[in-house]
Amino acid sequence: MAENKEKDDITGIETTGHEWDGLKELNNPAPRWWLWVFILTVIWSFGYWVIYPAWPTLTGNTQGSLGWTQYKKLESEQAEIIFRRGEFLEKIKTATLEEIQKDEKLYAFAIAGGKTMFKENCAACHGTGAQGTKGYPNLNDDDWIWGGKLEDIYATLKKGVRSNHESTRISQMPAFGKDGILKQEEIANVTNHVLHLSGQGDADAEGNTLFQQNCASCHGAEGKGSREFGAPNLTDVIWLYGGDKASVQRQIVNPRHGVMPNWDTRLPDETIKQLTIYVHSLGGGE
Ligand code: HEC
Ligand code: HEC
Repeated sequence: MAENKEKDDITGIETTGHEWDGLKELNNPAPRWWLWVFILTVIWSFGYWVIYPAWPTLTGNTQGSLGWTQYKKLESEQAEIIFRRGEFLEKIKTATLEEIQKDEKLYAFAIAGGKTMFKENCAACHGTGAQGTKGYPNLNDDDWIWGGKLEDIYATLKKGVRSNHESTRISQMPAFGKDGILKQEEIANVTNHVLHLSGQGDADAEGNTLFQQNCASCHGAEGKGSREFGAPNLTDVIWLYGGDKASVQRQIVNPRHGVMPNWDTRLPDETIKQLTIYVHSLGGGE
């Protein structure tokens, strides 16, 4: 190829003899700075070979003077995570719910932990998004049977509803039909009144009277519900068991008495606190 070398007419620099469609490559020396960087990286690589595992050998690879391995790196990173987690859990144990809520890092940690624990323990009944389903309340809305303040939610989780806990949240709506407290036509009247409360159908004077006598003690004279008795608001069109005529009537004849387990014996207190913070954050927290 040497005989192809020629000087470029314009720059006067020798070409390498490489040519593409009339474009010729000039034989310029590499820039000095580039050369230095190149030499430095070569020197660097020698240092790297010495301190880090680098070369394959018959039995494995060179170990490097630092003794560094990916496993050790993983181990130390995990140790740090566990340490941080332990540290946060320790803080959650002693902090009040309000204190957790005010501490930005602790709050984020509680939400993340609560979310995971919710999927594991609560989603089976309340749904993965806590959206609820028939008989299992939606925890995203601001409609609460037992209250949506931090301490209300915490108490509901600890004690459960109609659970085995000695001071469980409890109230039993009577089975007005099954136990013969109301006659069939009276049930029809009071059903009409409940439907009317939620904007369905006409007023039923007879139904209203029966409601005041039999239902107002728990659901309130206007049917707005009572958290003290865990009696749902009947006017907000958010239904636990359905708002059509058949569902309302079925509830009055023979109520379900849904059970929410008590978690105090199943989960440590710091987990229940995280769950409380998480549920409270879902949108309806008061
Ligand atoms: C076996 C089913 C079941 C499981 C599991 C369950 N719940 Fe419930 N939960 C219910 C039922 C049923 C109610 C409604 C009880 C009632 O009639 O008042 C309820 C009510 C609640 C309430 C009260 C809602 C309100 O409007 O006042 C909260 C808060 C709640 N659950 C949170 C949780 C959390 C958090 C978990 C997981 C640790 C969980 N639940 C697991 C069945 C369940
Ligand atoms: C001792 C208190 C109490 C009395 C009295 C009572 N209820 Fe209830 N009611 C409840 C509770 C608690 C619930 C929650 C669901 C359950 O436990 O089955 C409920 C639920 C309901 C529901 C279902 C609401 C929903 O969101 O799906 C309807 C409808 C209802 N009651 C109507 C009545 C009517 C009508 C009367 C009177 C004839 C009445 N209740 C009397 C406590 C009471």
